[in-house]
Amino acid sequence: MGRIIAIANQKGGVGKTTTAINLSACLAEKGKKVLAIDMDPQGNMTSGLGVDKNEVEKTVYDLIIGEAGVEDILCKEVLDNLDVLPTNIDLSAAEIELIGIENKEYIIKNEVDKIRDQYDFIIIDCPPSLSMLTINAMTTADSVLVPIQCEYYALEGLSQLIHTIELVKERLNERLEIEGVVFTMYDARTNLSLQVVENVKDNLNQNIYKTIIPRNIRLAEAPSYGMPINLYDTKSSGAESYRLLADEVIEKE
Ligand SMILES: Nc1ncnc2c1ncn2[C@@H]1O[C@H](COP(=O)(O)OP(=O)(O)OP(=O)(O)O)[C@@H](O)[C@H]1O
Ligand SMILES: [Mg+2]
Repeated sequence: MGRIIAIANQKGGVGKTTTAINLSACLAEKGKKVLAIDMDPQGNMTSGLGVDKNEVEKTVYDLIIGEAGVEDILCKEVLDNLDVLPTNIDLSAAEIELIGIENKEYIIKNEVDKIRDQYDFIIIDCPPSLSMLTINAMTTADSVLVPIQCEYYALEGLSQLIHTIELVKERLNERLEIEGVVFTMYDARTNLSLQVVENVKDNLNQNIYKTIIPRNIRLAEAPSYGMPINLYDTKSSGAESYRLLADEVIEKE
């Protein structure tokens, strides 16, 4: 049975999608069978893995409104060992479509359940909000991995996020755990990054991944080529660090 990890933090621009893309790709590179699910209407995980989000006929939105089943929207073997459930801007209408729908918290879970035994890992990229889309990701997932950007406001919003995860666990998905936090965009040239890491370690009673993702321009460039970092620049510090993160995630199995 695939282990399902949602990458979530309602704070914008902290490295969720970069982590979702590159963790998925590095797990696949290590021979794991991976499904990447894009739950963000921005569709950046979809395009970052090389799927043209404006060309796909059916997307996660069609799942949400019941116009397609999971097999209908699956993009298979986008990379070796990696399938994608794609998304584009259509998904931004989902929140409204879901008003008054019964069991709306479980739409994605019910679909993913049909195929989860085909995968070792299922990685879900969440939007920067605590919306019904994020709730759908959290009811589907076994755990939540929280990227934290190494900047001054790193801890802001984290208590709401943890509270949300606890509420979902209590009321909707008793399996849900906090996988841990991963620091992103670490800049070794500044004291600030180091201070943020130490401050979070002192104040946050959660599992923290040993791997710290450095700030690496190659990570920012790769999506415009539709490639994960391990293919775009296989020897970059970004690629090396996401491989190490993948090793840690595998070890936790
Ligand atoms: N380690 C890194 N080094 C350099 N740039 C990075 C790194 N991680 C992310 N970025 C860049 O920072 C920006 C935000 O990253 P990303 O899109 O992954 O964040 P996000 O949390 O998914 O954002 P959103 O909340 O909008 O979904 C992007 O331009 C990305 O390319
Ligand atoms: Mg994102």
